[in-house]
Amino acid sequence: MIIRYLGHASLQIRTKDVTILVDPFISPNPQASHIDINTLDADVILITHGHADHVADVKAIADRTGATIVSNFEIVEWFGKQGVEGHPMNHGGQKEFEWGTVKYVNAVHSSTLPDGTGGGNPGGFVLWNDEGCVYIAGDTALTMDMQLIPFSCPAVDLAVLPIGDNFTMGYADAEIASDFVKCDRVLGCHFDTFPYIEIDHDDAKDLFSQNNKELILLEIGKEIEV
Ligand code: NI
Ligand code: MN
Repeated sequence: MIIRYLGHASLQIRTKDVTILVDPFISPNPQASHIDINTLDADVILITHGHADHVADVKAIADRTGATIVSNFEIVEWFGKQGVEGHPMNHGGQKEFEWGTVKYVNAVHSSTLPDGTGGGNPGGFVLWNDEGCVYIAGDTALTMDMQLIPFSCPAVDLAVLPIGDNFTMGYADAEIASDFVKCDRVLGCHFDTFPYIEIDHDDAKDLFSQNNKELILLEIGKEIEV
């Protein structure tokens, strides 16, 4: 799996000949102005929850590419009324697709859609196939539910965790979360996009390295392999 950071909580995952986007919020993000959503490939779009900073570019990309969205029932219904195809899930449910298995897991946050429609309860995803296993926490607080993931999913190779604090857990709680999911390799997201969530990168990385873990902070557009 190749995982490319597209800014904020947006990812592009290439695996098994498909391209999966996660929470595309690119065109409204000035820090991602060098990423053109009109050139992004997508076969699948995973949406953790309904907030605008996670769904802003979903419709434009899905309309152009024909990508299928995967999210909770309420969000898939909302996009369905706009002509976007989707696969609905809900918490604790797992589905095997041709390109991998997805489990929709708990997150502690909120999920109202941009027009005020209820977006169900927020979630995260565990995505795995024979290339690896990635936990995408979505916007969430540190929660004991994360401890369930190692019991019901393969060993997590990379945990994508929010670290910006204020709206989600900060990096100190993310370091604890990495213990809960038993994964020492963390890709940070949901930081620096807005003044409320600006963090000190060195302090964050130092905390992880003091605990013999790796916190990866990618420049927008750069990628890592799992
Ligand atoms: Ni949110
Ligand atoms: Mn958010």
